[in-house]
Amino acid sequence: MLSWNPALAKRHLRTLSDFTDDEMLELLELAEALKRRKDSGIRGDLLHRRNIALIFEKGSTRTRNSCVVAAQDEGGNAEYLNPHDIHIGHKESVKDTARVLGRLFDGILFRGFRQSTVEQLAEYAGVPVWNGLTDESHPTQILADLMTMRQSFGADLHGRKLVYIGDGRNNVANSLMMGCAKAGVHYVNCTPAELSPDAELVARARETAARHGATVTVEHDPKTAVRGANALYTDVWVSMGEEDKQAERLRLLRPYQVNMPLCEATGNLGGELIFLHCLPAFHDFETEVSRETGPLEVTDDVFESDFSRVFDEAENRMHTIKALFVSAIGDSSRA
Ligand code: CP
Ligand code: NVA
Repeated sequence: MLSWNPALAKRHLRTLSDFTDDEMLELLELAEALKRRKDSGIRGDLLHRRNIALIFEKGSTRTRNSCVVAAQDEGGNAEYLNPHDIHIGHKESVKDTARVLGRLFDGILFRGFRQSTVEQLAEYAGVPVWNGLTDESHPTQILADLMTMRQSFGADLHGRKLVYIGDGRNNVANSLMMGCAKAGVHYVNCTPAELSPDAELVARARETAARHGATVTVEHDPKTAVRGANALYTDVWVSMGEEDKQAERLRLLRPYQVNMPLCEATGNLGGELIFLHCLPAFHDFETEVSRETGPLEVTDDVFESDFSRVFDEAENRMHTIKALFVSAIGDSSRA
């Protein structure tokens, strides 16, 4: 029998700060219960007759399809809306679109550029709105990352150390910093000075981490940063919408590649070290970009190693998104 905290009903996820630290853990526990249920062959109907709108201004493999499968697994429907096919932003304001979609759908997941779009949707839709990535944050990703860490290290992550290496001020880095802080994980952001995270976000994460005896650090030297790490995490050096910055990013970030010597520098290789990446990743020569550049943020041997957890992490996107949908708009009488 599944159950979840009724306080999670109708809640938005604009950033991870929309949930208390305990509520975030409750979402992870629900995701784990939903995974166990699916693994045992049960398809439920917790989202029976629930309709979810998916607005994607940017491309997606994991997030979009996780939403579709999560909804379908529980008897619901997720409808992909290409912003070029609907009027949002061109002929109709975000505010009006929110009010219309909120009359039709039970929830809305948005991926796109501006954080303010998610916030406006949440303000006016009258139904839960989930942030599926903006330029500033990627909270649903971090739920999957924490679930993956729990699979490796157990449910209590307090005192573990995660080192994020790469573009220190992108959406994933920002949300990961807060997610680790809320879970009591020591977080190190290893990045060149030019790409350091926003000071206010760091201050907020430090306040949160302090409640758990955890730390949030910005470090510029990779070998120093990774010492004692339990998890190394990286992301693309050029996020969607920043393609014109490619040359500069490659110049700044080449010394920040996650490779075997860097994994060795953790002192935990062959022990309790895992590698995480939100994906997609440039680790080989098999993409249009990396055919020209070669592997970028991670080498192929690390990506394919036995301590790489990237495909568990990708799968966990679906379980965690399902937990968000079920807790916000699910029918508990069908649990
Ligand atoms: N990690 C992630 O958000 O992947 P997609 O861009 O494929 O959704
Ligand atoms: N920082 C990356 C994450 C992709 C899931 C981007 O925004 O493109």
